[in-house]
Amino acid sequence: MSFLNKLFKSDSSKIKWYKVFDSEADAQKNIAVNKAVTVQIEELKICLARTASGYHAVDDNCPHLGMSLSRGVCNSFDEVVCPWHAWRFDLKKGHETSGQGTGSGVKVYKVEMRDTGLYIGV
Ligand code: FES
Repeated sequence: MSFLNKLFKSDSSKIKWYKVFDSEADAQKNIAVNKAVTVQIEELKICLARTASGYHAVDDNCPHLGMSLSRGVCNSFDEVVCPWHAWRFDLKKGHETSGQGTGSGVKVYKVEMRDTGLYIGV
């Protein structure tokens, strides 16, 4: 699923905000609870996940062997689980939580649901 055609820069502050969906309904339609999609923003591949607590964005490449985390699932602890070897990553802080990849983690990006849509800040 490609969202490239939906990305728009929204301001010029230090964080650049990119619009990914036009509305919350649009985001809900495209990302089921405890699922994720890949979003390409410039050179970045981002895993945009939806859990019961909301939307979360982290680097898409698993630091173990590079599998796309957005192909995994999320759990009730706000973690994304890599589909290859099941390393888990905290979607709010980015650190690895299964104990298999001690010290590893993924970058976390800000996500905001605004009146005009869902934005990721990079
Ligand atoms: S590639 Fe993600 S856990 Fe191995």
